[in-house]
Amino acid sequence: GNTQVAMSNLEKGKFINYQRIEDNLAIVRQRLNRPLTLSEKILYGHLDDPHNQDITRGVSYLKLRPDRVACQDATAQMALLQFMSAGIPTTAVPTTVHCDHLIEAQIGGQKDLARAIDINKEVYDFLATATAKYGIGFWKPGSGIIHQIILENYAFPGGLMIGTDSHTPNAGGLGMIACGVGGADAVDVMAGIPWELKCPKVIGVKLTGKIGGWTTPKDVILKVAGILTVKGGTGAIVEYMGPGVESLSCTGMGTICNMGAEIGATTSLFPFNHRMTDYLNATKRPEIAKYAQQFAYNLRADDSAEYDQVIEINLSELEPHINGPFTPDLATPLSKFAEEVKKNNWPQELKVALIGSCTNSSYEDMTRSASIAREAAEHGLETKSKFTITPGSEQVRATIARDGQIDAFEKVGGLVLANACGPCIGQWDRRDVKKGEANSIITSYNRNFTGRNDANPATHAFVASPDIVTAMAFAGDLTFNPLTDTLTGNDGKPFKFSDPSGFELPPTGYDPGVDTFQPPPEDRARVTVAVDPKSDRLQLLEPFQPWDNLKPVDIPILIKVKGKCKNCLIGAINAQNGEANNIQNKITGEWGPVPTVAAWYKSNNKPWVVIGDHNYGEGSSREHAALEPRYLGGLAIIVRSFARIHETNLKKQGMLALTFVDPTDYDKIQPDDKVDITGLESFAPGKNLTLVAKHKDGSKDEIALAHSFNEGQIEWFKAGSALNLMAKSAQN
Ligand code: F3S
Repeated sequence: GNTQVAMSNLEKGKFINYQRIEDNLAIVRQRLNRPLTLSEKILYGHLDDPHNQDITRGVSYLKLRPDRVACQDATAQMALLQFMSAGIPTTAVPTTVHCDHLIEAQIGGQKDLARAIDINKEVYDFLATATAKYGIGFWKPGSGIIHQIILENYAFPGGLMIGTDSHTPNAGGLGMIACGVGGADAVDVMAGIPWELKCPKVIGVKLTGKIGGWTTPKDVILKVAGILTVKGGTGAIVEYMGPGVESLSCTGMGTICNMGAEIGATTSLFPFNHRMTDYLNATKRPEIAKYAQQFAYNLRADDSAEYDQVIEINLSELEPHINGPFTPDLATPLSKFAEEVKKNNWPQELKVALIGSCTNSSYEDMTRSASIAREAAEHGLETKSKFTITPGSEQVRATIARDGQIDAFEKVGGLVLANACGPCIGQWDRRDVKKGEANSIITSYNRNFTGRNDANPATHAFVASPDIVTAMAFAGDLTFNPLTDTLTGNDGKPFKFSDPSGFELPPTGYDPGVDTFQPPPEDRARVTVAVDPKSDRLQLLEPFQPWDNLKPVDIPILIKVKGKCKNCLIGAINAQNGEANNIQNKITGEWGPVPTVAAWYKSNNKPWVVIGDHNYGEGSSREHAALEPRYLGGLAIIVRSFARIHETNLKKQGMLALTFVDPTDYDKIQPDDKVDITGLESFAPGKNLTLVAKHKDGSKDEIALAHSFNEGQIEWFKAGSALNLMAKSAQN
């Protein structure tokens, strides 16, 4: 259409493409001929090939074209180094990098930030220059936490985003499908390669009633986590619906989607509504709200869409919950919590109460918590527990500084930390208890696995709404229930907290605070990426070599793997000796660890192959499992069968992923065979290759090898990797 609505106020010439969703859905609807859920509409609306894409929930692998990519600073380093190795001048989709994970909480926001900038200087310099060079938006340390910045500036209804952080789904609060991925996926999308996702199942959560009193959006996800458990969302998108949705603020919906990562969900999502419009207006994006309004029929589920599972929650009856310790799915309603504390001998004294983080640091959260702090202050109280506040963004920090909430927190003894992950990711120099000492803390964060916050395995970390966390800080005691129990004021009189109250959005608008955004410069040719050659944190990567057009002859077998091979070859059992990480160098005859032997072959220009069993690469962390063998000079992985994602990842890295036509041929291969691979000169889809296994005794076996390479993937192999191929086409 004629409408051109910018995806973000911070990017020129990048527009929301609702027309693509419309066009794709016209095709997909004809093919599927059934009502669609909201997540299906958005996902299928981003298909690379809507005509031919196989679509079966829970089965097919979708090839998708995301609208944007976001990386946090810890994962961005490797992703950018890889992207740079391809030599592509600009990312294929708008991308941002956010400095939030490397800032350690110690004494307070300003000083902690200054120290982090000092300690991480080479990383920040690298990220600042690499982003500038390749057209990526850079959010400096102090800007805030990735998911909050995304919600404030980049998320939009109906969008599809990937981010290199597990809580990327936060943007579902603004109606975007936002998925946490590994760095390798981010690199693909930055380079213009479609993103592959197993077509998710859809879990519907129907909300009825109305939220109110002490119950907050956080309690919705605490309850859902209790129902579905940490595994219950695996392979599914959790889609919220029903009349109760109207009673949730946009940032509250963000909280729910954010913590949906704890149940293993691919992502979580809300339908577009007027609460999102309010938030878009408040964050200076009224055109997006209007555009979404025109398009609203595609931003909600079809009537009678079918879900794989439906959960119903009545918000009017939902109690505040406290989840934990040690796992986010151990959900206890507040009214039962004191009893559970005693029954389980959880340390009753509350040492530290922490609010904020990417999960719960909205203006609404902060104003509600401040209302509790002010009421306590009126009774002359300070917090009994230590009390920290982590603003999610510089904009939230500046706004609550201007509007008096920070004052209210500091008045009762609160410590405002830097706008960063801090204690949530374990960046916490905690000194009030010794390692190993049992103690309790409560946070408004999302994750509470053992040791997550302070690296102390004896810390019992509980998760609750910021309201409950703040009220608890004044009691200093886990058995306190602010709905029913009283505290004693400094006048000696008991008082009970009123219901918390706050503002969904700042009545006088957001204060943007200090400008912490670095847009890519106009003239990027002159930017030099800063990598210290002596760095032990960063190293430039060379692109992989293209195929040399030679027939592989007399190739040694690095390892013949027996049984399962998960996560790298280090853990694989060597068929030659039944041991892990002890293999023979077939040229020198010496034994050593897998990486050492592989590195020897590499430095002697000797490619190698791996022989593997069934379901090879299952559960491999997507990051390095395919990159490492290629980096160490591997040529082919030949197995009885592959785990699907690992097979694709090997191909992307320019390796041959091959399977025995007859799986029993696996047994014909001896670990000390040398092998030839023939047929590569006419490598084509559906055409088998041949493995010639030359045994020590001089005999040979000719073994047929199948492969699933399509034409595009064969080009990846020839170019040396998918990235290399993308780089080539970017130069043409
Ligand atoms: Fe950071 Fe914790 Fe969120 S680590 S991104 S604040 S979950």
